[in-house]
Amino acid sequence: AKKDDSSSGSSSGGSKTITLGFSQVGAESGWRSANTTSVKDAAKEAGYTLKFSDAQQKQENQISAIRSYIAQKVDVIAFSPVVVTGWDAVLKEAKAAKIPVVLTDRSVETSDDSLYVTLVGSDFTDEGRRAAKMLATVVEKAGLKGTVKIAQLEGTTGAAPAIERAKGFKEVMDADHADDWKIVVSQTGDFTRAGGKQVMAAFLQSNPDINVLFAHNDDMAIGAIQSIEAAGKKPGKDILIVSIDGVKDGFVAMSEGKINGIVECNPLLGPQLMDVVKKVHEGETVERWIKTKEGDYLQDQAKAELPNRKY
Ligand code: AHR
Repeated sequence: AKKDDSSSGSSSGGSKTITLGFSQVGAESGWRSANTTSVKDAAKEAGYTLKFSDAQQKQENQISAIRSYIAQKVDVIAFSPVVVTGWDAVLKEAKAAKIPVVLTDRSVETSDDSLYVTLVGSDFTDEGRRAAKMLATVVEKAGLKGTVKIAQLEGTTGAAPAIERAKGFKEVMDADHADDWKIVVSQTGDFTRAGGKQVMAAFLQSNPDINVLFAHNDDMAIGAIQSIEAAGKKPGKDILIVSIDGVKDGFVAMSEGKINGIVECNPLLGPQLMDVVKKVHEGETVERWIKTKEGDYLQDQAKAELPNRKY
């Protein structure tokens, strides 16, 4: 069952407002909650009627939400796909109903490029590359000698950010650090704090000599920090940590010295999405991928940056 199925927006003003059906992945992380708020606020601001549904990280819930938006004849469908594969059938149904589809945050793999109009979201492969480059700086600053033994906490299996962040990170590692870096363990923590905590505890049991954690998001890093401390080690010192997102709690952990660096992934996609939805609805041509701009932050910037974090 879907957790939330609500409509908001205004239909005042005489002319027909845009009805947008939006299927969200879930509420698995701080990033996701900020993304949901951004989408809802921006839809309201734009005066659209928003039909919002939370899939609780289940693809079948997203597929049924999209089918219900097709049945309701919404003007545009937007969704953030939980995984990359398995969308062609439902996207073909949307195409047959002449409802344009906009992907937001995450991409899909499809045999037919005409099944969606555009993607509004980050370059996850580049985020993985930036994380590896950042780790090189962190390792140097910490004066870590010998083999860099990395534990990787992956995002949801089959999700674009999990696949692409791992790929980008490995690309830089293989090119620049093949002799001295090694990923000793890698497993999914499903982008959640509980997952990060549980998997990190198991990593520390099986590989107590890990000296680096690369977490695909801040929430898993925060969960992992609890397990690192429970094992009597100091996060940020005994185990250097680089993560992705840049949510407020991530910056708090970084300002406490527990995370060494964060690659930002911006969840505030609502305003850009509403802009694209309008253009698509009016038949304007839009770019195939509208990329988000984001920054990189090291520990010494954390305290100054913390008050500026909006999510
Ligand atoms: O797709 C973006 C990712 O999904 C974020 O990094 C993560 O926190 C979220 O759950």
